[in-house]
Amino acid sequence: MNYQEIKSNEEIRTYIRQADLSLEALGYTEHSFAHVTVVAEKAGYILETLGYPARTVELAKIAGYLHDIGNLVNRVEHSQSGGIMAFRLLDHLHFPAEEIGMIVSAIGNHDEGTGVPVSPLAAALILADKSDVRRNRVRNQEIASFDIHDRVNYSVTQSDLKIDETQTYIILSLSIDTNYGSVMDYFEIFLQRMIMCRKAAEKLGLHFKLVINGQQLI
Ligand SMILES: [Fe+2]
Ligand SMILES: [Fe+2]
Repeated sequence: MNYQEIKSNEEIRTYIRQADLSLEALGYTEHSFAHVTVVAEKAGYILETLGYPARTVELAKIAGYLHDIGNLVNRVEHSQSGGIMAFRLLDHLHFPAEEIGMIVSAIGNHDEGTGVPVSPLAAALILADKSDVRRNRVRNQEIASFDIHDRVNYSVTQSDLKIDETQTYIILSLSIDTNYGSVMDYFEIFLQRMIMCRKAAEKLGLHFKLVINGQQLI
């Protein structure tokens, strides 16, 4: 079973939709199909570019698509509950144990605080997830009542994650409109995430670079 088939699975779509509704109720930014599709594709891009086998690339996309499903249970420790949910779903779809194991440990390790890039797949998922910052993830239309997450996401007008030609660096380039969020705001909430990205890059034999408005910060 491949990524496209997982994407069109109605049960899974229902859980992703419901998980995002819970996050909407909690005031979080968008975590629905747009987010999980971006993460799936970026995770796949990373492993594909680095020459991993086609099936590993496919598993990275599936892990990306499923990674936030645990928000259905609770935001707290959603990576762990998501891992368990993915286990049940993929087992039910007769995935081989080895593939389920790879996906479950990547999902269970994607969140800052408890997550560690335990495998190349987990590392690709971390980099793909933590770099998805963009204006259209902000649901709040009332600029005056933006919280720091809204400000940071809204300020990002362009975001790009690329591995350089020599496969030495993975570079996250952001264009920030400083009318909405400052580079300081960005660091306040993203420092931990960027440290995680650095460790994930190392797991893949790369160095992580963060470039904001053309200036290299990490
Ligand atoms: Fe998450
Ligand atoms: Fe996520």
